[in-house]
Amino acid sequence: MHVLVTGGGGYIGLELCRLLLERGDRVRVVDRFFFGDGPLRALAEASAGRLSFRAGDVREIDEAWLDDIEGVSHLAGLSNDPTAEYNPGANWQMNAIATEHLAQACRRRGIARFVFGSSASVYDGIGPGMFDELTPVAPRGAYSISKKYAEDALLQLAGDGFAPTILRQGTVYGWSPRMRFDLVVNTFVKDAVTVGKLYLHGGGWQWRPLVDVSDVARAHVVALNAPLDAAGGEIFNVMQENYQVRQLAMLVAGSLSLHGRPVTLEEAPLPKLVRDYRMSNLKLTERLGFTPAVTVLESIDTMLQRLPLDDVGWLANPRWYNIAWMSVLEEMHAAQRPFASIY
Ligand SMILES: NC(=O)c1ccc[n+]([C@@H]2O[C@H](COP(=O)([O-])OP(=O)(O)OC[C@H]3O[C@@H](n4cnc5c(N)ncnc54)[C@H](O)[C@@H]3O)[C@@H](O)[C@H]2O)c1
Repeated sequence: MHVLVTGGGGYIGLELCRLLLERGDRVRVVDRFFFGDGPLRALAEASAGRLSFRAGDVREIDEAWLDDIEGVSHLAGLSNDPTAEYNPGANWQMNAIATEHLAQACRRRGIARFVFGSSASVYDGIGPGMFDELTPVAPRGAYSISKKYAEDALLQLAGDGFAPTILRQGTVYGWSPRMRFDLVVNTFVKDAVTVGKLYLHGGGWQWRPLVDVSDVARAHVVALNAPLDAAGGEIFNVMQENYQVRQLAMLVAGSLSLHGRPVTLEEAPLPKLVRDYRMSNLKLTERLGFTPAVTVLESIDTMLQRLPLDDVGWLANPRWYNIAWMSVLEEMHAAQRPFASIY
């Protein structure tokens, strides 16, 4: 299959590109490359011409991106609450409107398979509980509201040969060539390595649905190749397991102690916005026959093998923290073009 991966230079996108190439697929990436194109360039060089990429903004769709494309995995956009709240207008255009426009373009071109990287954060605001795809949602932050708008737009466009699949991805953990250390497990690993101390806000009793980055990539591949009547016009929760934050801290601390690095856990006050819910991945298992399997413990071990554990400077690079890096880009941009924005 020839697959367009938007946001293919990002944390999940790179792993998805790697997996598609491994399967023998062809890949075209479109990305703003906020975080650079280094890892993708390396992947392209090793792909014998099967991976091509171009810089582009999904708010300005070029129909040529879709030439010869048989399936789309749409991952581009602002990918967390802080970056969305920083510029809600840009977030809306990138995450909500651009998704709708890209789907409309695919529908016009007869591209049936469109897999959307949505987010479990659409369950934000309901309160604690166990949620599945039938749970009524009423998201409250700029990020999750934009994801929900995009989901609804895709479901409305479904039909007449267009078969979008919505993946509500839990919080992701694990190693990718473009790392993010602003996601709970990865942040704990980074803090354990750099300062040897993990803070448990409100005791860390909150529940979160989590999934390894390689399993998210696999879920996209499964959805891209599933029978259209099983995956089209459907929403699937994607997670390996529900974990309490406290449990995650203990898994990280225990793993680090095996490397001879003691880690202490300390209680801290609760922040204003707290996520605390579980979700079910039963539909993904039953309908698409795929169950994410890489555990947090296994993923921590992989990260510890791959991270330069003694290079704390590498871990401090703002590039690995979306809001920190976007703030740096914004400052650099403003210095050259006052009153203009990077977003
Ligand atoms: N990582 C998670 O925990 C998680 C969880 C749920 C959902 N998601 C969703 O999955 C997708 C990928 O997340 P990620 O963790 O890989 O994020 P990421 O920030 O690492 O990657 C996003 C990529 O999209 C690109 N991009 C941003 N705006 C763009 C635009 N306007 N046009 C073209 N490219 C643009 C960025 O340059 C980046 O390479 C996002 O849509 C995110 O909302 C992520």
